[in-house]
Amino acid sequence: MDEPVTPRDIDALYAWYKAMGVTDHAVDQPTDWFDLERQIQARRQEAGVRQVSGGPKPPARPVSPVARAPTPGSQSPPAAPSAPRQPAAPRRPVPVAPDAAVMTARSQAGSATTLAELAQTLQRFDGCGLKATAKSLCFYRGAERARLMLIGEAPGREEDLAGKPFVGRAGQLLDKMLAAIGLGEADVHITNVVYWRPPGNRTPTPQEVQVCEPFLERQIALVEPEIILLLGGAAAKQLLDSQDGIMRLRGKWRDLEKGGRRIKAIATLHPAYLLRTPNAKRQAWRDLLMVEAALRLGTGQTDPTAAAK
Ligand code: URA
Repeated sequence: MDEPVTPRDIDALYAWYKAMGVTDHAVDQPTDWFDLERQIQARRQEAGVRQVSGGPKPPARPVSPVARAPTPGSQSPPAAPSAPRQPAAPRRPVPVAPDAAVMTARSQAGSATTLAELAQTLQRFDGCGLKATAKSLCFYRGAERARLMLIGEAPGREEDLAGKPFVGRAGQLLDKMLAAIGLGEADVHITNVVYWRPPGNRTPTPQEVQVCEPFLERQIALVEPEIILLLGGAAAKQLLDSQDGIMRLRGKWRDLEKGGRRIKAIATLHPAYLLRTPNAKRQAWRDLLMVEAALRLGTGQTDPTAAAK
């Protein structure tokens, strides 16, 4: 027989959630996973995606304990299986098949002619599963047009609350790093490879990054940066199309073809990593000096004396 759950077990579970970075409930209402599956099927049919024989398995029962975590401090027991049905909760975005979602993203992003339009398009877009658990869209902060664009990984808790990228501790360090090369928020455009916070601050999945990519491509085309600074491994791997780790990718100039233009790109260490590993700041500083030199010299020219160490 199962051991009874004691208050100490519950405390230990909360402590574990906290240690894993879980700070919020994912949802306030229980999810009807069978209804969700019916909606996914309906979306697939609408999108004309043929189902493979036998069809996909119904979604597994909720994997993440986050979705079901009771409010810390509340002692209310989980709802009994026979509890009466709650009134229907407001509809949350329904995930669609990744390939259909990428196609939709591409066509919707391509028709935005300004960043404001792109923001509206993102607000309406339901193809990225992260939207279901995030509080807000974190699109960008800084200038609409900028010579330097910075791309990070994903919004965290502070960003989700503020609806802007890089406003938490990592963002504050980033601002100091930029100030050290004479740049302020008005000089740069800052965003991430995904626009919604992953639950518990986990790394976004390749599918989540892929589905946001058409929006990011359009954003780059509209911002028209001369230089892109990639912050951390997730952004570097995605934009440089590489499986190498950040330590190999950082500190080297690459050419990116985006929006019909050639843009200089360089990767550096993520500010969150620098907060945990202060010794690595030396490397990030070298990368930043390369960016400063390139901005000083102008598009297409990089300081030939500044090699990655
Ligand atoms: N880390 C990121 O990569 N992006 C943010 O916006 C905040 C923290």
